[in-house]
Amino acid sequence: MEFMDQLRAPLYEALLQFKAKKPYSFHVPGHKNGMILPYKELEVYQSLLSIDLTELTGLDDLHDPSGIIQDAQQLAAAYYGAKHTYFLVGGSTLGNLTMILSSCNEGDTVLVQRNCHKSVINGLTLAKVKPVFITPQIDKESRVATGITVDMVKAAFAKYPDAKALIITNPNYYGMTMNLTAVIEAAHDYEIPVLVDEAHGAHFGVGEPFPASAVSQGADLVVQSAHKTLPAMTMASYLHFNSKLLNRGRVETFLNVLQSSSPSYPIMASLDAARAYLAKLTNDDLLEIDSDIQSFRSALNQQLSHIKVIEKGKSYTFLDPLKITIQSQCTLTGFEMQRILERQGIYTELADSHNVLMIMPLARFKDGSIIIEKIKHAFEKIPLGMSEQKQGSVPFELEPFTEIEIPHHKMDNYEVTFILLKDAENTISAQDVIPYPPGIPVIINGERINKHHIQLCRELIEAGARFQGDAENGITRIKVVNTPH
Ligand SMILES: Cc1ncc(COP(=O)(O)O)c(C=O)c1O
Repeated sequence: MEFMDQLRAPLYEALLQFKAKKPYSFHVPGHKNGMILPYKELEVYQSLLSIDLTELTGLDDLHDPSGIIQDAQQLAAAYYGAKHTYFLVGGSTLGNLTMILSSCNEGDTVLVQRNCHKSVINGLTLAKVKPVFITPQIDKESRVATGITVDMVKAAFAKYPDAKALIITNPNYYGMTMNLTAVIEAAHDYEIPVLVDEAHGAHFGVGEPFPASAVSQGADLVVQSAHKTLPAMTMASYLHFNSKLLNRGRVETFLNVLQSSSPSYPIMASLDAARAYLAKLTNDDLLEIDSDIQSFRSALNQQLSHIKVIEKGKSYTFLDPLKITIQSQCTLTGFEMQRILERQGIYTELADSHNVLMIMPLARFKDGSIIIEKIKHAFEKIPLGMSEQKQGSVPFELEPFTEIEIPHHKMDNYEVTFILLKDAENTISAQDVIPYPPGIPVIINGERINKHHIQLCRELIEAGARFQGDAENGITRIKVVNTPH
């Protein structure tokens, strides 16, 4: 293979060279390379806007790349070991929609790991498929949904032999991974393509101590949010194609449909630069990064009695070092801990009933002792000891497979009504119920509601979970199917 200098970032470098020419802009965007600012306070944008360019001569075209964007995408593909890599300017949301639409046909049965992001659910709706949700394992210590096992996948193929695709989320939000190689091999034994939402694993494959990437484990299509764990701009994501089973042309067709015709150059350049950043990290760098994180983890555990750091559990294969989940050992829920930390200027990624998730930087981290002091201060007046409610709850205790009774795209044919959640047992939900974050559905649109769903919602409400679209910040009423028109 042709030598590729992974330390270069051709797209990013070309934008800097273009800027250095001090060009006159008689083209879009209207800010004219950052010369016009609607408010003077927007100076903060100015330097970024100077590379917020468009498809000018020499700057290539994302929708038909043949120059610097092609070079940058090829470098990313070579780095990750994919046949082709596409830059996404609409996040992994766009990547999930593209993966599903380009791999599935209307009416197909598709196996889907239940603890998926809402963009996966939306993709299933748009593709008009028949999803069967596979219930993941639960990590006993953190009580969060993890991944699925090879046995679950084999059982799913035995029960649904006509399945046309398998959609996986790995790692979960908390950095817990499954035995992906085995799961992918099981699907490939049936010639079924595997689509992996690796939104939280753009750094996977960088080397020890981080896990292998889904691409290197044989997945057909993989989406990664570079902006989540790499130094990339929000909405910057990669879509990797690595399949013998799928049609690449169809992927490109949907990318053309779904991506803006004016994709952001700063976002694309940050994808290029983030890949070069990964390539520059040496083994020694990675060991130092890991050592800083491990020291911080130990200090959190040893110096703070109000929390414990979640250690690697049995229901998953690997715990991403960049994710530190702290669990309440006091009377606070995870949501309350998160709010108290914010008062100290410590902003974390998410909270659930019991835990708060911190995402560590993929770089040296030297502020551990300052943060520990701030956390100590934040919790000093809080009584220790867990409430009964916190000890009792186990989320996502559901049947191994869930078929929805009304496919999402047919929901418009039904009359719907709002009823109290407590009265909803045995009705069919006409909405997703998604505590946010982490954006994982407790009830899926079209699913029959059972006792466990209601109980789980109640626990989440009591613990202070926020439900998307629910103004009262707690779901009391739910939209259910009435009768067909
Ligand atoms: C598992 C998972 N997939 C996909 C997404 C969507 O990613 P993005 O924000 O890049 O659109 C998220 C966002 O949080 C996520 O957690």
